Amino acid sequence: MADIQSTSASSPIVVRRRDYRPPDWLVPTIDLDFSLDPARTIVRASLSVTRNGGHDRPLRLDGDELTPIEVKVDGRALGPGEWSIEQGALVIPLPGPAHQVETVVELAPEQNSKLMGLYASGGLLCTQCEAEGFRRITFFPDRPDILSRYSVRLEADQARYPILLSNGDPTEQGELPDGRHWAKWIDPFPKPCYLFALVAGDLACNSESFVTMSGRAVKLGIWVKEADLPRTSHAMQALKDSMAWDERVYGREYDLDVFNIVAVADFNFGAMENKGLNIFNSRYILADAETATDADYDGVEGVVAHEYFHNWSGNRVTCRDWFQLSLKEGFTVFRDQNFSADMGSHAVKRIEDVRVLRAAQFQEDSGPLAHPVRPESYMEISNFYTATIYNKGAELIRMIALMLGPDRFRAATDLYFERHDGEAATCEDFIRAMEEGGRIDLTQFRRWYEQAGTPRVRASLTHDPITQSVELVLEQNTPPTPGQPDKAPLAMPLRAALFDRHSGRSSGETLLMLTEEQQRFTFNGFAVAPVLSINRGFSAPVIVETSRSQADLAFLAAHDDDPFARYEAMQQLMVNALVGRVAGQEVDETAVIAAIRDTVNDPHLDSAFIAEAIRLPSEAYIGDQMVQVDPDDIHAARDALQRRVGKELEPLWRDVHARTRANGFSLSAAAKGARKLRNSALIYLVASGAVDGPTVAFSQFDEADNMTERQSALATLANDRSDEREAALDIFYNRYRDDALTLDKWFQTQAFASHPDTVDLVEELAGHPDFTLANPNRVRSLFGAFAGNQWAFHHRSGKGYRLVADCIIALDKLNPQTAARLVPPLGRWRRFDEERAALMRGELQRILSQPGLSKDVTEQVSKSVE
Ligand code: ARG
Ligand code: ZN
Repeated sequence: MADIQSTSASSPIVVRRRDYRPPDWLVPTIDLDFSLDPARTIVRASLSVTRNGGHDRPLRLDGDELTPIEVKVDGRALGPGEWSIEQGALVIPLPGPAHQVETVVELAPEQNSKLMGLYASGGLLCTQCEAEGFRRITFFPDRPDILSRYSVRLEADQARYPILLSNGDPTEQGELPDGRHWAKWIDPFPKPCYLFALVAGDLACNSESFVTMSGRAVKLGIWVKEADLPRTSHAMQALKDSMAWDERVYGREYDLDVFNIVAVADFNFGAMENKGLNIFNSRYILADAETATDADYDGVEGVVAHEYFHNWSGNRVTCRDWFQLSLKEGFTVFRDQNFSADMGSHAVKRIEDVRVLRAAQFQEDSGPLAHPVRPESYMEISNFYTATIYNKGAELIRMIALMLGPDRFRAATDLYFERHDGEAATCEDFIRAMEEGGRIDLTQFRRWYEQAGTPRVRASLTHDPITQSVELVLEQNTPPTPGQPDKAPLAMPLRAALFDRHSGRSSGETLLMLTEEQQRFTFNGFAVAPVLSINRGFSAPVIVETSRSQADLAFLAAHDDDPFARYEAMQQLMVNALVGRVAGQEVDETAVIAAIRDTVNDPHLDSAFIAEAIRLPSEAYIGDQMVQVDPDDIHAARDALQRRVGKELEPLWRDVHARTRANGFSLSAAAKGARKLRNSALIYLVASGAVDGPTVAFSQFDEADNMTERQSALATLANDRSDEREAALDIFYNRYRDDALTLDKWFQTQAFASHPDTVDLVEELAGHPDFTLANPNRVRSLFGAFAGNQWAFHHRSGKGYRLVADCIIALDKLNPQTAARLVPPLGRWRRFDEERAALMRGELQRILSQPGLSKDVTEQVSKSVE
């Protein structure tokens, strides 16, 4: 594999999957010694290196912004002519088959604004290494197929950094003169360097114990600032539940004596699965009723599970190279999705996951940054932590699991874990284990890993009254994506059922395997044309096109026994009405209103499902259904339909809002469902135009004993001008100004508001004293939310584009990884009218013309601008 170096933006190196070569040198052990200090940290590394195969190539140790202070081989200090630096890497010619190499470097964690490598966050020192941050800490062959045993000694000022943590198990500790102390950690499991971590700081611990299936006691610790301790109980429960679930469902047991989690305030993404020492964005650890919404609670549970599950899918079995990233991420997302479904509602979890897939992955797959689940090349691997690798990757595993059924899937994952334990594996290894353990041929299925783009499946049903049969014709095609003009047909499992329109029942579900470009399926015994329910449970990650009438959709919305299909029928009903409105066509909306009313009144449905089903599709999703997105018309259409549903069913919304009012806070499924439904009712009630709308919303805001109701009332108020809006925003700010995670919501709610002045407000908020580019959560809550607000971001003045581009340019100098995440919304210019497209491209060009642009932003912008 070509080494990936930090390089100047003008000549970004492209890394290709087919260039993979096994490493020249292996590193069986590494001893690290850190003398920690925010301004000046000294890192001494001692590596045992062994030549891998017969070659005479030098040892090459990656480095990024590192200068060696000392280089020793087998105890002898090398002179300046005995090593060299090439593109940041330390290159040392070595004579023998095995040597001991020592290096010393100096770091300044407090200067590290990229938040990769060793950095300072709110008085802590912590690390982030995946994907290529370890090379910012010490010289090392920074690639995941080098597995080493780590022993780590940490030394720091005892008063400032009383807690010293690293991977594995703690072994010794002691005190030193000058108020310093030290601790030693040994990780018995060989691991790639991206899983290395250390934390030093003044932390308090929520400590509990878990007894594994073989009876071993594991000490669990969640480390946070003292004041945050009361907010860690949900995360702790999630951790214990995850450990038990992985034993029960996959037979996977935890393998060290301690498992630590640390929450940090400044973090580039969600969390990191470092062996035995997970490091989390604090937003995925801290939760209490005062500050966390139900969605936040679910986020904590899901991310804690995700990182814990990586201990097997990621750490015990890791990736050979970064092209295999979905091997661990897709599989682990699949595992955390199923865990969350088991902990709550399968139906609602599936709906939420599909909504995310469509919003993030389908958009990605239809734009300039589309790439396969196993990409062929990259400039900057950080740009490939995408919805495609994660969420589409999870859908591929889901399809395999569906085709195998639970028992064979379990046999196949058992084989995978056994066969590759302690190895750096590939997606191909995983597929083979599925084939052998699950007794299935996945030859054609492999294309899912190679082809980008969302397949479209056209389904048409014809009924023959003479033979009393129906014929279902399925046709698939996958549109071209960058570098892939022609696509081959994919193998996809489609769950389907045919419903009798009189009894409202189906004769049962069948699993159709679509493998050809066009395929026909015949079903007998239908005197009357049935109604087709297809891709039930969203069994394949595709776009299904049918020509079902509004009446058929209304029928399914009332009768389908698959909750996802039922939700989907509702969505399609609404989409048809909304797209019709945008096109200026008369679409009968009474079916939509009736379906919403009947869904709310259906006594067999639970509240959480009802809330999902009656929610109008987002403006972005409506835009995705159209060749050219008109943000203003879409907003107007959705707003008008929302007002109509609000007005026509006003008494219903009043009633639902009143009867879902709780007495005391609980996290039970019923209580969460009630809150979700209450919020939908509030949205429609306010949309109805009832004069007391803002007052009702304000009282909900004011009286709520939980953040779910408080924030959703605030969000509803934020959409319109009213005195209540200003009052609520002020109260919220003053109540939470000292709590960063909650203040994020204040920024986010305003940036996401459907308010005509949002774009100006965002500009103002970017200058607010509490706004900072140094904290990724804050940046995402303002600019991330804004760029996802279709109507506001695409303001025809182009001001929204300029604001986001300004942010990218400024942030790139501090934190390129987080800056690059803001590029994709600007890259979707092909989907908009000429004026908007020109403005969007103009901003992309302006970004690209900045001197010293990072590799991260260069890759995203240059791919998007063409
Ligand atoms: N492995 C981590 C997770 O999904 C995420 C690491 C993201 N790294 C990055 N460079 N974006 O759990
Ligand atoms: Zn992950």
